[in-house]
Amino acid sequence: MLCLAQASPADWTARALAQLDEVLVDHAHCERKAAGMAVQLLFRYPEHAFLQEPLSRLAREELAHFEEVLRILAERGVPLRRQKPAAYAGRLRSEIRSADPERLIDTLLCSALIEARSCERFRLLAEAVADASLAAFYRGLLAAEARHHRIYVELALELAPEAAVRERLEVLSAWEARAIAEGPPRARMHG
Ligand SMILES: [Fe+2]
Ligand SMILES: [Fe+2]
Repeated sequence: MLCLAQASPADWTARALAQLDEVLVDHAHCERKAAGMAVQLLFRYPEHAFLQEPLSRLAREELAHFEEVLRILAERGVPLRRQKPAAYAGRLRSEIRSADPERLIDTLLCSALIEARSCERFRLLAEAVADASLAAFYRGLLAAEARHHRIYVELALELAPEAAVRERLEVLSAWEARAIAEGPPRARMHG
């Protein structure tokens, strides 16, 4: 159960397939950023023992994904280049409450939603790409990102009762859906 309030726009897959190299470059950045976000939480909350091992392992998995995407880019002869940040993550994070523990709960749930959106889009790509090895790559990733989604929700459940976490996840998922809907239609993993 991925908790997304809204599926991706119907034309997202066609847009992504038409600019697959662009999507792969964006994907590489997303994996690196996912690792960075997890590591940032390790720095920010050393007192929370329950975060340390799960987020350390998650960060390593994201970096392994990053290396896999780098390899695919190299095979396709596509250079990794700097990218203008998408509005999506900033818009999503603007809903994060400013004082802990709410700040941490919201940060974990936003990460859960980012993972859920990646997972949804890897499924769309796995079903649509013509290249069998690329399809298999996306299928492998969607399972990992679904697991990451669950880990982030479970970590939030360490900080608040289930009903409160579910309620907040609903609010943030509506906000996430809005961030997707309002973003300019581009060939990005998010937005
Ligand atoms: Fe990943
Ligand atoms: Fe992930």
